Amino acid sequence: MEKSNDGLRVILFPLPIQGCINPMIQLAKILHSRGFSITVIHTRFNAPKASSHPLFTFLEIPDGLSETEKRTEDKTFLFTLLNRRCEAPFHDCLAKLLVSSDSETQRISCFIHDSGWTFTPSVTKSLKLPRLVLSTYTVSFFLNHFALPKLRREASQDSEQDDLVQEFPPLREKDLVRLLKEKREYLEPYLNMMLEATKSSSGIIFMSCEELNQDSLPKAREDFKVPIYAIEPSFSNFPASSSSLFTQDETCIPWLDKQEDKSVIYVSFGSLATMTRPELIEIACGLRNSGQPFLLVVRVGLVKGTEWNEVIPGELNATLNEKGKIVKWAPQQEVLKHRAVGGFLTHNGWNSVVESVCEGVPMICLPFIWDQFLNARLICDLWRVGLHLEHRIERNEIESSIRSLFFGNEGEAIRERMRLLQEKVERSVKENGSASRSLESLIDHISSF
Ligand code: UDX
Repeated sequence: MEKSNDGLRVILFPLPIQGCINPMIQLAKILHSRGFSITVIHTRFNAPKASSHPLFTFLEIPDGLSETEKRTEDKTFLFTLLNRRCEAPFHDCLAKLLVSSDSETQRISCFIHDSGWTFTPSVTKSLKLPRLVLSTYTVSFFLNHFALPKLRREASQDSEQDDLVQEFPPLREKDLVRLLKEKREYLEPYLNMMLEATKSSSGIIFMSCEELNQDSLPKAREDFKVPIYAIEPSFSNFPASSSSLFTQDETCIPWLDKQEDKSVIYVSFGSLATMTRPELIEIACGLRNSGQPFLLVVRVGLVKGTEWNEVIPGELNATLNEKGKIVKWAPQQEVLKHRAVGGFLTHNGWNSVVESVCEGVPMICLPFIWDQFLNARLICDLWRVGLHLEHRIERNEIESSIRSLFFGNEGEAIRERMRLLQEKVERSVKENGSASRSLESLIDHISSF
């Protein structure tokens, strides 16, 4: 029998980027479905749309970011600024909340924040509020990424491109080189604070399951020494679409309705990755030459300094429109669920990976930044449910990977493995499955505070 948690409120604090807002709102929906009341504290920057979630309370705090700061590409710098500027307003907001809800009918049980908020331990300690951390990465990336500054210092000149990084499997040396190329000022102090905030928390939540993290969950439990909950890989019960910061182009769905079963390649690179104009043109030509129908998301800002897809020459655009559809933002989960979609050319953000696995859609991997390199290795080397482009953004490579995925023997084997992985993940959320048991433990834990 499910316990009633009526009267218990949980306070959530997402990091203001799309890939972090979606899982936090999904967590809110899960907890709400289990009887908890939800308050979301959020920054003014990239504020979630309160009107899409009438059952939750939203409280905005100022973040003091200038327009230039909001546009910075160095995410560690952005998060460092946010942590500095939000501490005082967050403290005031939380203190007021605790005073106003200090009654038995609306008791605040605990506070759950994105792992990227590092100032939180001192605030919640002074206010005596139990605190849990949500990581929006996969377990192995979260566990090992604290070693990145050390790996940068010790980068070996001798290692072969394809060698595994011993401290960071299944990442390869060439992935590490790309990952470390990203400009990330303040990385070391930021990660140190994050690690401290995680280790001093009451527990860590991952939107994932044992089946997707067998390589790393036991070590994470040993290293962090706090309870770890891998609670929910199946986002379809709690879709992310309502927390979208971008306007979704719903016309993709009637377009997909007109396509044959499992014929369409869906192409999207998430909310942060950027590419050059020639890279986008190579991808567009590869799609055209493959002959498969495609749905391509060209996010505003995907190609730096451009308005939208004007970088694709008119003539190419016209031939593209014969076989495909280009949109600024898609209702991704609905797209992946659609019977017409047979493959996903993706940047491998963790949300996209999990959404694809949950819908059983095999992937072509083209990671651009940060955790995406590791996620791509999990897909291609460990689970073997995708093909890796190895960053060869050339039309011939893209065309041949699409053909292999849709028609080759390898593609067939990948589809079969993906079907089995999807089944495993589906079982994890059924009664007594690993994610379902983990969720029950989390509910018990936060009800006990
Ligand atoms: C990045 C990281 O790579 C990710 O692992 C990290 O946890 C957060 O930051 P992002 O680039 O946003 O994330 O990618 P991803 O994690 O895949 O999240 C994108 C979300 O936007 C997904 O939930 C996806 O469904 C949604 N989306 C994407 C759309 O709804 N429409 C689109 O057209 C593209």
